Amino acid sequence: MKAVVFDQLGGPEVLQLGDAPDPEVRRGKVLIKNHAVGINFADTLFRQGQYAMQPKLPDIPGLEAAGVVEAVGDGVEGIKPGDRVTSIGMKTYAEYSLASAGQVMALPDSVSFEQGAAFPIQVLTAYHMLFTSHNLTADQSVIVHSAAGGVGLAAVQIAKAAGARVIGTVSTDEKATLAKEYGADEVINYATQDFAEETLKLTEGKGVDLILDAVGKPTLEKGLSCLAPFGHLILYGRSGGVPDPLNLFGLFQKSIKVSGFILYTVSAMPEVHHKGIRQSLQLMDEGKLKLLIGKSFPLAEAAEAHRHMESRQSVGKLVLIP
Ligand SMILES: NC(=O)c1ccc[n+]([C@@H]2O[C@H](COP(=O)([O-])OP(=O)(O)OC[C@H]3O[C@@H](n4cnc5c(N)ncnc54)[C@H](OP(=O)(O)O)[C@@H]3O)[C@@H](O)[C@H]2O)c1
Repeated sequence: MKAVVFDQLGGPEVLQLGDAPDPEVRRGKVLIKNHAVGINFADTLFRQGQYAMQPKLPDIPGLEAAGVVEAVGDGVEGIKPGDRVTSIGMKTYAEYSLASAGQVMALPDSVSFEQGAAFPIQVLTAYHMLFTSHNLTADQSVIVHSAAGGVGLAAVQIAKAAGARVIGTVSTDEKATLAKEYGADEVINYATQDFAEETLKLTEGKGVDLILDAVGKPTLEKGLSCLAPFGHLILYGRSGGVPDPLNLFGLFQKSIKVSGFILYTVSAMPEVHHKGIRQSLQLMDEGKLKLLIGKSFPLAEAAEAHRHMESRQSVGKLVLIP
């Protein structure tokens, strides 16, 4: 099969279209013929050897894909060849990929393969931070950093659907317009404005109840300064660099908390995982959650897609079409 293979760590140029053996379906696994592959910021870290999982070179990036089930392994129930599905898997930058049966989700006919590929990681990450790590309620306020990105746009809409006040941060005015279109109440361009100062102004000095932070170094410390008493900052990435060590005693002053989040914790908890899938699909069905496909690239242009994401130009979801 055709796949995007890299045999050394490095910049986007290490990603090359090549040939790889077809994956063999094994017990508990589902083989999917991919129609659309989701790109995540994590893939750019994986390519550089900076992700939680290390590549085994030569390796194939990719954590999610939507398509049609080609075959199922022994022990798989409720999923059959021909089903339209989306999935969290591995090595998905390819014509075919494998996923564990528990990580395969049926795709309603109303959801396209591209939207399906935009769903598993970014939407579920946004959902579970808001409702599993935190318990967002309508009287709360939340800062969503990088609000025009994949996780960001999903988080803005899901938080709005819960009735919360949403303050987005973005690095360009174009992204600010987009985040507003998708429901953010206020948007701060954190490249030109101090987001903590602006947030305190917007909240009359009180601060916000929740901050979703995947930027890290430039935002974490400042974020703590604009949390309300008993506020909660969830650190779930580091697109702007690894944050400085946290001074735990600094948390006392306003009784605030900082927690970490990674989706794999949830995907290993079937009931919680499936609740997130059901509720997110319902929001899509009700028109409260729209997945923006910012750009699609042919599989052969994976390197270009990574350049686009790392340049901070991308909005919404980037997908590869095998
Ligand atoms: N923990 C988890 O389970 C989990 C799951 C999914 C994603 N994540 C994390 O969530 C973040 C967003 O992921 P995504 O896939 O939705 O990507 P994305 O937000 O669509 O794209 C990355 C965005 O990060 C922002 N950014 C800030 N500083 C940056 C820098 N120095 N270089 C490049 N980009 C920078 C940019 O938006 P602005 O220019 O507007 O800031 C950029 O558009 C990533 O950090 C990712 O690792 C974590």
